Amino acid sequence: MKQDITTVFNIEHPIVLPGMSMVAVPKLVAAVSEAGGLGILATGPLSADQTLSGIREIRSLTDKPFGIGVTLMMPGSKENAEIALAEKVPVINFSLGKGDWIVERAHAYGGKVIATVVNERHALAAQRYGVDALMATGYEAAAHGGPVTSLVLTPAIADIVDIPVIGTGGFADGRGLIAAMALGAQGVAMGSRFSITQESPVHDKTKQAVIQRGIEDTLYTAKFDGMDCRIMKTPRAEKLIKSPPNLFNALKNSFQLAEQLGIPWIKLLMGTLIKGPKMMLQLSQAANASESIDLAINEGDCEKGVHLVGQVQGRIKDIPTVAEVMARIIKEANDAKAAFS
Ligand SMILES: Cc1cc2nc3c(=O)[nH]c(=O)nc-3n(C[C@H](O)[C@H](O)[C@H](O)COP(=O)(O)O)c2cc1C
Repeated sequence: MKQDITTVFNIEHPIVLPGMSMVAVPKLVAAVSEAGGLGILATGPLSADQTLSGIREIRSLTDKPFGIGVTLMMPGSKENAEIALAEKVPVINFSLGKGDWIVERAHAYGGKVIATVVNERHALAAQRYGVDALMATGYEAAAHGGPVTSLVLTPAIADIVDIPVIGTGGFADGRGLIAAMALGAQGVAMGSRFSITQESPVHDKTKQAVIQRGIEDTLYTAKFDGMDCRIMKTPRAEKLIKSPPNLFNALKNSFQLAEQLGIPWIKLLMGTLIKGPKMMLQLSQAANASESIDLAINEGDCEKGVHLVGQVQGRIKDIPTVAEVMARIIKEANDAKAAFS
């Protein structure tokens, strides 16, 4: 029998706020942890100093367990992981890279580690090097879900590992939580749902744009940031993915990215060059994407900007507080269970 994630992470409800750049900020992270879930701070666009202040801010807002997310292929992510380890953050969630060194060092102080995976091979590898849980991210998810739907991916991974699985991608309510558990998961992570709450920093215009759109109004494409990525379907997004990557813009954005991450531009350039031409192209697309994402999240501009959102946007119809979402999900989950008993 697999351990419950409420026991593994010492939380009340099996519900996780996954890392979302510019969205999973200290206020939202603390609100989810305070409401009994597990909030995870996104450190993608943060320098090491900003990550440290983020951790301190979360600790000033809640004494409940929380996590830090690191996308290992991104520049600056190792430095952010080092800060999380030095600060003995209760949970570290890594994606897009091998986090064995994080597992060893987090376990040394009693911390827990979650690996985000999109296939069985990576799930087994992460289990082998000792992670405590897996975030299995399906096709429905906002941003970088895998090519397989959560309906198929969740049980496929749950059946081959002994550690808890957190169903991710397409979950936004209590019925989804019960469905994920029926598929073998021990809980769910919800990005799109928590991004449309009162505590989320997403601009109100973009929150309204999500509410107005349906389940079919997303695009899944590698042409936005260089990896398969789910975004809101808008005229701008459709145009953007048809045009070749703008290398001049990428160069301009790389200066901004280096400044944001607090690393010298030349170090960013060299680090990218070493990884080869494919990675260079991908990071240049990522630099451009981050400018578009910023416009949607912070300026509410979905005309020039591009918003990351999952298919479940079509099921999101209001902007409640995090505590209201949590209470609603628990009630819906209990009702769904009762309907089957
Ligand atoms: C607004 C928004 C921003 C996100 N930003 C990131 C990100 O920067 N990096 C990442 O790996 N995933 C990102 N995600 C994806 C989430 O971590 C998570 O995998 C996804 O939201 C789960 O699917 P769901 O939206 O159906 O709940 C983002 C999701 C949203 C909604």
